[in-house]
Amino acid sequence: MFNNIYQGKKVFLTGHTGFKGSWLALWLSSLGAKVCGYSLSPNTNPSMFDELKIKDKIEKSVIGDILDYDKLKKEINEFEPDIVFHLAAQPLVRLSYKEPILTYKTNVIGTLNVLEISSKCKNTKAFINVTTDKCYENKEIERGYREDEPMGGYDMYSSSKGCVEIMSSSFRRSFLQENNSMLMATARAGNVIGGGDWAQDRLIPDCIRYINAGEKIEIRNPVAVRPWQLVLEPLSGYLLLGQMLLEGKRQYADGFNFGPNEDSVLKVADVAKKVCEFYEKGEVVVHKKDELHEANLLMLNIEKAEKTLGWIPTYTANEAIKETVDWYINFYSKNVDMLDFTMKQIRKYEENIKWNKNCVIK
Ligand SMILES: NC(=O)c1ccc[n+]([C@@H]2O[C@H](COP(=O)([O-])OP(=O)(O)OC[C@H]3O[C@@H](n4cnc5c(N)ncnc54)[C@H](O)[C@@H]3O)[C@@H](O)[C@H]2O)c1
Repeated sequence: MFNNIYQGKKVFLTGHTGFKGSWLALWLSSLGAKVCGYSLSPNTNPSMFDELKIKDKIEKSVIGDILDYDKLKKEINEFEPDIVFHLAAQPLVRLSYKEPILTYKTNVIGTLNVLEISSKCKNTKAFINVTTDKCYENKEIERGYREDEPMGGYDMYSSSKGCVEIMSSSFRRSFLQENNSMLMATARAGNVIGGGDWAQDRLIPDCIRYINAGEKIEIRNPVAVRPWQLVLEPLSGYLLLGQMLLEGKRQYADGFNFGPNEDSVLKVADVAKKVCEFYEKGEVVVHKKDELHEANLLMLNIEKAEKTLGWIPTYTANEAIKETVDWYINFYSKNVDMLDFTMKQIRKYEENIKWNKNCVIK
């Protein structure tokens, strides 16, 4: 996998106590990487980080704030990573209405801190900067956004990530032009689902909460359309992009979309119904009235990843929802080793990967 490039590599991973970061920490460790995680404490209870004891699976776990410049600098400089995967963020649209300043500080200034320190660290060759599909100016159009389309964002989360994209591009042009400078790419993924996510106001964790409480599932925006994908899909894109940068391929120091195929772009209500079908429990009935604006139509064009990286999605939305629901069913059955179960889902994904594992790079 990934040309075995992660074997023995030192990887600094921000956001390792979060949903995607926990999965990435496990995957990287299984690829032989020495991972140093840097994040705030898990902000949900339960959390995948605590339940699977991810701290014990990686080289070093630091609880720290990316806004604490001095501590961050000390940790990065001491660890001297080969590559940084930056996932730490305030990632929730609805929380960004309540906490706009925290959202901007964390997402924009926090990212600039990680970027600036890493770019000056002598051994750091590569940086994967995780943003989102919401970074584009949403025109509610019926086709996917391409990487070269304008950044924007109606709500403060989306616009903060649009800002991260603009800031990162400016940082690259200003400070990363020398031949030996760190290579930095930004990665934009869609609505990510998978086991181990207990965040508030996210569809699948919300569905699971309602089902476990024996209540009917209330959804806010039943006809909103989103690109749904299993967590391992964008992570495989980040890892592939990381491989290219570690191999010194400067043409990949750019923005990339990692979304699902068009047939996996589904309405919120249809996803909730699928969750009930696979859980064999639950019912979607009531639609909560909601005043906050959220995009109705959001899709990503993934031609660039396909043509230049050879990356394509592996699972359909149905398969992604099934894998996700299976994870929660097993978790709540209380008699399954969830670390083992999670690793089996990673192995299964690796075996099924549809993109070319030995991708020929142009
Ligand atoms: N989950 C999705 O559907 C999705 C979709 C597209 C992009 N993303 C992006 O992927 C990344 C990870 O998202 P997630 O779903 O795992 O979120 P999450 O909330 O589960 O995890 C966020 C992580 O960031 C850390 N963090 C937050 N503020 C911090 C700070 N000030 N200092 C240090 N660490 C801090 C948290 O401790 C946690 O480890 C984010 O950048 C997010 O914007 C997520």
